[in-house]
Amino acid sequence: MKNNKNSGSVSWESPSNIALIKYWGKKGNQLPCNPSISMSLKNSLTRTKLTYKPNGKEPLSFLFEGKKQSSFEQRITKFIKNLSDHFKFLTDYQLSISSENTFPHSTGIASSASAMSSLALCLCSMEEEIAGVKMVEDEFYRKASFIARLGSGSASRSVYGGFAAWGESNSFSKSSDEYAVPFSKYTHPVFQDFQDAILLVSSKKKEVSSSAGHQLMENHPYATARFAQANKHFERMLGVLRSGDLEDFIEIMENEALSLHGLMMNSTPSFTLLKPNTLELIERIRSFRLGSNVPVGFTLDAGPNIHLLYPKSEKERVVPFIDSELSQFLENGKYIVDEKGEGPQKIKM
Ligand code: DP6
Repeated sequence: MKNNKNSGSVSWESPSNIALIKYWGKKGNQLPCNPSISMSLKNSLTRTKLTYKPNGKEPLSFLFEGKKQSSFEQRITKFIKNLSDHFKFLTDYQLSISSENTFPHSTGIASSASAMSSLALCLCSMEEEIAGVKMVEDEFYRKASFIARLGSGSASRSVYGGFAAWGESNSFSKSSDEYAVPFSKYTHPVFQDFQDAILLVSSKKKEVSSSAGHQLMENHPYATARFAQANKHFERMLGVLRSGDLEDFIEIMENEALSLHGLMMNSTPSFTLLKPNTLELIERIRSFRLGSNVPVGFTLDAGPNIHLLYPKSEKERVVPFIDSELSQFLENGKYIVDEKGEGPQKIKM
């Protein structure tokens, strides 16, 4: 890298991810109560540009899709204020940040994962430019994942393409609560081109924020059992990703999604985020699978929309099934076609 810079711009594009084993419950400073693993997406991305100049006393400015967005601006300002231990230079610079998503608003796609990971990557690139020193690649991504985690837990996993695991587990020696680690190099070829059709049941704003959701686990009567289950599922899922056993993959993934919703339903306060159409879709997916032997399964985030996962080789059978049987239960018949992605990209400025 050439000379160090005093002002400039950096930009990254980073994906959303869909968790196969769910992070639900946190402790300390954004540490997970159990390990999780997710698949990074290809088309659902946030592009963030960070411009820096020295010694500004003006507050950080944030534009989302060209417009001021104060709720996110406040969240980012707080996030950046708390990073001075990790980026000593930050207090000496004035930052302007702008970001945009490639996916439409309110689709229930986890935008904090792509937003916070792209911002964390920008901050790590800014650090490199200011110091005029390039970090070793592994260290760069580890730091970006660590920083992303402080912004949003699931964002720690979006720093890597393919599959990424976050949270300490005896079954994965490299795992850590502090940052995510890539898992792709161990995965079976059947997962190579894995597809994710995001079936939009409702685009209404989430009824429970993730932070409020995680809090529900603090005094949850089933917390101990849930964390034990998640650890077991995590270990089994790592085995399945290596072996390519799609029957087990689907069983664990669906069980995780329904556990998450079960936990929300019997929390105090209680949330029922599944809609009647979500349940209709689940029944139809299961009966299609039984009747056709097509290895297609679902998962859900903390909302009513379904992620339908399947190997690309089954596309010719799954897409007609979505169009003929499922789309009638979707908001305006809409779904988003996505698939496993290769991870974030730095954008040349
Ligand atoms: C249900 O990462 O959005 O999507 O750390 O508070 O930002 P914060 O929470 P967030 O929680 C994601 C919850 C989930 C499951 C998952 O992605 O693992």
